[in-house]
Amino acid sequence: MSKARLGVNIDHVATLREARGENYPSLVEAARVSLEAGADQITIHLREDRRHIQDYDVPAVKLVTDNFGVPLNFEMGASSEIIGIAIEVKPKWICLVPEKREEKTTEGGLNLKDKIPFERIKETCEKLKSEIPDVKISLFVEANKETLEKCIELKVDAVEIHTGDYAIDFNEGNDISKHLELYEKAHKQMTTAGIGFHAGHGLSDKSLEPLVEQGLFVEYNIGHWIICQSVFGGLSNTVKELNQILNKGL
Ligand code: PXP
Repeated sequence: MSKARLGVNIDHVATLREARGENYPSLVEAARVSLEAGADQITIHLREDRRHIQDYDVPAVKLVTDNFGVPLNFEMGASSEIIGIAIEVKPKWICLVPEKREEKTTEGGLNLKDKIPFERIKETCEKLKSEIPDVKISLFVEANKETLEKCIELKVDAVEIHTGDYAIDFNEGNDISKHLELYEKAHKQMTTAGIGFHAGHGLSDKSLEPLVEQGLFVEYNIGHWIICQSVFGGLSNTVKELNQILNKGL
């Protein structure tokens, strides 16, 4: 079994920048540091309300991933404005996600069961495939049989299973076996159809472990926890470095 790929989602580096309207922390630097540390790809989500990632970040981060020879995984809602930006930047992977302006984060997978949203996603996949040579498309979905049948119909390259509910149950100490059973079934359904099996949302080092043990997912996209944990990875050094400067005044 080969190691699963790690997509580092750096949206929340931009959240920190936007909270103060400064030009730091740098998204380019966040992408570079993550890739030097062994990330397999960088994931960013250009939201319609631009609450974190801004338009200018997208080509800038794409340049970094190109320099490292790894994919930019561009998460996006199926709106015509964002589709236009994707066509300009040409990421190697696009993950289509549902998007509601009032949500704190992406709250669940795409609705592919109803005709109108299904047709919207179908048209978006066709447009992206025709305009971006070699782009690979994943759909952010629940591990649900009927939804996954729709993914097969759309002939997507991969599904990214929404692990948010699993992560909540894990964090609250609840039984996670029902989620693992669903993932087992979904994996069988997807691999039989030759569709990649990715995971993302709400994961931490601890909640990742049972999934890695289960060994079904070939890619994980993780963001919020990585950026939160990085505070503790870096806070001590940063305070020490500032004290070195202050000590020069002695
Ligand atoms: N995958 C998808 C499709 C997402 O929408 C997100 C959140 O932007 C993530 C992964 C990362 O989730 P988290 O930040 O909770 O790790």
